[in-house]
Amino acid sequence: MQIKKNLMLVCLALFVAASASAQTFKYVGADKCKICHNKPATGEQYAKWQKDLHSQAMKSLSSQASLDYAKKNGIADPAKEAKCLKCHSTFDAVAANLRGGITQAEGVSCESCHGAGSAYKSPVIMKSKEQSLKNGLILPTKEICLQCHNKENPFHKEFNFETFSAKIAHPNPAAK
Ligand code: HEC
Ligand code: HEC
Ligand code: HEC
Ligand code: HEC
Repeated sequence: MQIKKNLMLVCLALFVAASASAQTFKYVGADKCKICHNKPATGEQYAKWQKDLHSQAMKSLSSQASLDYAKKNGIADPAKEAKCLKCHSTFDAVAANLRGGITQAEGVSCESCHGAGSAYKSPVIMKSKEQSLKNGLILPTKEICLQCHNKENPFHKEFNFETFSAKIAHPNPAAK
């Protein structure tokens, strides 16, 4: 009886997973967001991200600290190592069939925090918050950050959502 019930739960889980992937959004890359989100009057989010460490995350995988860590841990090249790339590159964190324009060099890109943009990036959708959220936009909370800011990272620092958010803040001064 218990086995049967478990089997049913597994089937249900598979069904839910299959239907969720039926409407898949693709990762378009930061250059697409830049078209509309680089104006000083609305917060120049792209320029701010370019200055924060997320956009530089691929460079860290070639730094001396990375090379030293790699040598000690039998990693040939951290910049090609899946174990490091999964947090340092949005491109590598997502399935190959979901990559639509995003590049590895972007490091931790907009869409790691805001969700894949293929459906919400169009002007008609974007101007409505409700429509954007229905089409894959995420307004990130702490849980999103903790996907990467955790002890699996060999260089982990204690994560504080308030202070860390303040460091990467890119608000729109024109928003109500
Ligand atoms: C065609 C223009 C356009 C593109 C492309 C675009 N956006 Fe937007 N986005 C807007 C507009 C317009 C708003 C409404 C607020 C504003 O003026 O900034 C908005 C709002 C947002 C918001 C705030 C939602 C809210 O209500 O709090 C986020 C987050 C966002 N965009 C992220 C992105 C990301 C990430 C990308 C790239 C994948 C992107 N946008 C691409 C035009 C665009
Ligand atoms: C996809 C993985 C990922 C997500 C999601 C993510 N980060 Fe990061 N974050 C990184 C990586 C990787 C670095 C290090 C970049 C580097 O220096 O190479 C970093 C660095 C930072 C830094 C700089 C830390 C320092 O030492 O100065 C801050 C601040 C930060 N993240 C805040 C956040 C916040 C806030 C969120 C959630 C809203 C978030 N991050 C979500 C991967 C992520
Ligand atoms: C679980 C996600 C995750 C994994 C896996 C990960 N990193 Fe990171 N890495 C981060 C985050 C987040 C930061 C920013 C530091 C922080 O706030 O914890 C970071 C920071 C760094 C830094 C900058 C350290 C500093 O303080 O200047 C280097 C170098 C680095 N990582 C190399 C690597 C290497 C090499 C690997 C693979 C062996 C790796 N990372 C795997 C998430 C990760
Ligand atoms: C590390 C995570 C992270 C990355 C990377 C990131 N954002 Fe954000 N973004 C946030 C958080 C957190 C907020 C605040 C959400 C809220 O207010 O609920 C935000 C807010 C925004 C807003 C709304 C601003 C407002 O005040 O209405 C826009 C627009 C936006 N981001 C665009 C972008 C674009 C474009 C990129 C890439 C160039 C980007 N973000 C990269 C985490 C991120």
